[in-house]
Amino acid sequence: MKFFADTAEIDDIRELAATGLLDGVTTNPSLIAKSGRDFMEVTKEICGIVDGPVSAEVVALDHETMMKEAEILRKLADNVCIKVPLTIDGLKTCRALTGDGTMVNVTLCFSANQALLAAKAGATFVSPFVGRHDDNGFDGMELISDIRLIYDNYDFETEILVASVRHVTHVLESARIGADVMTAPPAVIKALFKHVLTDKGIEGFLADWAKTGQSIIR
Ligand code: E4P
Repeated sequence: MKFFADTAEIDDIRELAATGLLDGVTTNPSLIAKSGRDFMEVTKEICGIVDGPVSAEVVALDHETMMKEAEILRKLADNVCIKVPLTIDGLKTCRALTGDGTMVNVTLCFSANQALLAAKAGATFVSPFVGRHDDNGFDGMELISDIRLIYDNYDFETEILVASVRHVTHVLESARIGADVMTAPPAVIKALFKHVLTDKGIEGFLADWAKTGQSIIR
């Protein structure tokens, strides 16, 4: 499963990229606003840090203006992935851009039928928002299972990008289901490394090692 960071914070992206485990980045207008940075500038900078896809979202609602925005965004770098909302105009834009060889992430997906439409429109990625789904009394992970089943039934190549991830269990469940990608806030990705028994184990081994009086580097 690929790991994307859901953030526009450069320091976090650099830190995660340095682990060698980061496959891409997703941003959205709210994350750009939170960063306080210029959209074009920060997107270009992120594209230079990671080799994988960096999602940059259009803000227009009509197909024609979405295409104009996408044209500007895709010139920023080769690894820009245009993010469009799951609307009729968004999917028209998706079809036009992917037909041209541009990566497209269809965002704000909340039903399996919407995901079916995104795949038919040739999306590179579809982003079902599991956390927001859970918040509204639905089962986000059930949505991922349904999409996995449908995509496998028809051999759709669109990758399932689990978004709105809130905790490590969302990541675990996504991997169990066989989602292709998950995008999570840096804090959730960092939490994946942690286990109390790992810390305790290191503590015990180091205490015993100290008793030997040895060092590896001599
Ligand atoms: C996905 O690409 C979105 O940026 C994101 O996951 C939204 O998550 P939120 O529900 O935490 O805002």
